[in-house]
Amino acid sequence: MPATSSVPCQPLMTGATPPESGGTPVTGGAAAARELVVPEPSLVLLVGASGSGKSTFARARFKPTEVVSSDFCRALVADDEDDQMATADAFEVLRVIVGKRLAAGRLTVVDATNVRSDARRGLVALAREHDVPSVAIVLDAPAEVCLARNAARPERGISERVVREQLDQLHGERSALSGEGFAAVHTLVGVAEIDAATVQRASLPSDLRSQPGPFDVIGDVHGCAAELAALLGRLGYRLARDGAGRLIGARHPDRRVVFVGDLVDRGPDVPGVLGLVMGMVEAGDAWCVRGNHDNRLARALRGRDVRRSHGLAESLDQLAAEPAEFRARVERFLDGLVSHYVLDGGRLVVAHAGLIERYQGRASRRVQAFCMFGHTTGETDEYGLPVRYPWARDYRGPAMVLYGHTPVPTPEWVNNTLCLDTGCVFGGWLTALRYPERELVAVPAARVYYQSAKPFPANRLAEPVAVAAREPTAPSAAPPEPSRPAVESTNQEDKR
Ligand code: CTP
Ligand code: MG
Repeated sequence: MPATSSVPCQPLMTGATPPESGGTPVTGGAAAARELVVPEPSLVLLVGASGSGKSTFARARFKPTEVVSSDFCRALVADDEDDQMATADAFEVLRVIVGKRLAAGRLTVVDATNVRSDARRGLVALAREHDVPSVAIVLDAPAEVCLARNAARPERGISERVVREQLDQLHGERSALSGEGFAAVHTLVGVAEIDAATVQRASLPSDLRSQPGPFDVIGDVHGCAAELAALLGRLGYRLARDGAGRLIGARHPDRRVVFVGDLVDRGPDVPGVLGLVMGMVEAGDAWCVRGNHDNRLARALRGRDVRRSHGLAESLDQLAAEPAEFRARVERFLDGLVSHYVLDGGRLVVAHAGLIERYQGRASRRVQAFCMFGHTTGETDEYGLPVRYPWARDYRGPAMVLYGHTPVPTPEWVNNTLCLDTGCVFGGWLTALRYPERELVAVPAARVYYQSAKPFPANRLAEPVAVAAREPTAPSAAPPEPSRPAVESTNQEDKR
């Protein structure tokens, strides 16, 4: 079963287009019957002079309640949709309605001329406040058409001068549109193209609500390929190898894996982990969210200037020994990783560093930053590591949140959230949570692969009974196996 998401993933932090916004690049041209992809939720701004056909366009393609028009808001406050004196009040009302809709995660279309850059910027900022992408649909109808249509409805009292000013503003500032933070700018030129265009709604890449599970959610792997293979085996997955004996996939008849990210860096076999996880994701046997280490490696592979610290050097050195096609595949895979997933009808959220309720299922830079780093206070502790605000302590959301990022000696439930990073690469354990069973399954690291900046209590799970006793809020949590080593060989050469 392939991983389904109707909108392609966008690379992170590149260009002016906010990533993961579900948008497509700036488009234009004369092809007929254009299909405009509109992510849901998003804020859609119609952009065009009076008479370009915005209201007609919106009526035919969106639900009446999805469209908030400046004319209607003028009528609400002044009983007259043509009362230009009421414009300021009308836009105040429009912003309130749009804000409420976006807060509720509802697709919202603003039907106003939006020909001025500052008017658009205010609305894009409003969308950003609610962590939803913005899309512009430009209706570039010829001047004579707009003028003729307005001449045919003299009761609206829109003068030729006003229409020409709007067209000048539209054409003068149109090149600015691509730099205003829109996820996509769709430009329709001419009446035929405007009339023929259709709107294709697409869910955001994080939306896997239609996937009910069951899942096995696996904590930070950090290049520990042997432990990953052992854990998958223990979870009941059948491992697949290529002719050279490298792991290229793993399948369970009923279950699929969700990785919390940080597949790479520090550990002994980053290519082995990537080959296995990429194979699983490509075959539809797993999903993986983006960890901060995955993101740094993606940037480094793209040739960005990234310090080779925190285990990145190990990843790059190991990947350098791989064929160029493998590195290219890794780059594509890492670039395509999504910040978080919302699964099982919204009952489960997986994000690398966790996720507060109001960011779940949203797409913005700050959502991505939270997913990768959590809520940092800006301070550093005595080990030079960022101090993190304990977001889980305040979490009250209905969705279970599973995450990693910060190694913990033992997974502990905090308000329906659980950190699954048990520091495998630091000599701890690689841990999975069976969902919905809420059972922990773990395998021990064969050894300490990397020294943690902060002392990490390696081997602390040597007494699993004590561990089980420390997990009072996870009644069905199974303690890790007592004996070690319970993993396959960690010799790098035989794992891929
Ligand atoms: N119209 C038309 N054929 C189209 C589109 C519009 O005949 N393909 C007509 C509408 O019936 C309306 C006029 O042109 O009488 C203006 O269209 P409208 O959709 O209202 O244009 P808007 O861009 O919404 O204009 P305004 O900014 O003034 O609201
Ligand atoms: Mg209109």
